[in-house]
Amino acid sequence: MAELLVWRDQWLLHIDPMDEDHKEMVRLLNRLADNVKHPTDTDKNHPLIDHQDISVHEIVLIRFDALITHIRKHFAREEEFMSSISYPDFLEHKREHTVQMSYFTSLRCTFSNGCANNLDQEVLHEIKMWFLDHVFGEDQEYANFFRESALSKDK
Ligand SMILES: [Fe+2]
Ligand SMILES: [Fe+2]
Repeated sequence: MAELLVWRDQWLLHIDPMDEDHKEMVRLLNRLADNVKHPTDTDKNHPLIDHQDISVHEIVLIRFDALITHIRKHFAREEEFMSSISYPDFLEHKREHTVQMSYFTSLRCTFSNGCANNLDQEVLHEIKMWFLDHVFGEDQEYANFFRESALSKDK
């Protein structure tokens, strides 16, 4: 089955912990997309699903929570990194993280309140486009700054 997003090495920042985080984000987003696309499937690998009668809505919520939790940790790691290299646009980038996280949490809140249709293909597409903007746009900027400052120290 076609995945929502297939990792491409052109997305690499060449900063290992951040690249690993982004790869994991792709993996978690694809798992979420699988459950949204195939609502009758159950995932026998998940410990909760083997032992409990769990609804599709709950499975999607577990997947979505896993993605949000990962993104939250990733944002914190990036912010620590940007601060450690004295990135000049740190505050602006951090603000974008805050705005994005509040979007995810409000989406989660609406979805968990029983509006199952809120997490559909359109939302998945939005998250996918956000991911591409994130790795291609704002993240490349701090990675470029990091490379340039490393090069100027070498001179
Ligand atoms: Fe990132
Ligand atoms: Fe970021």
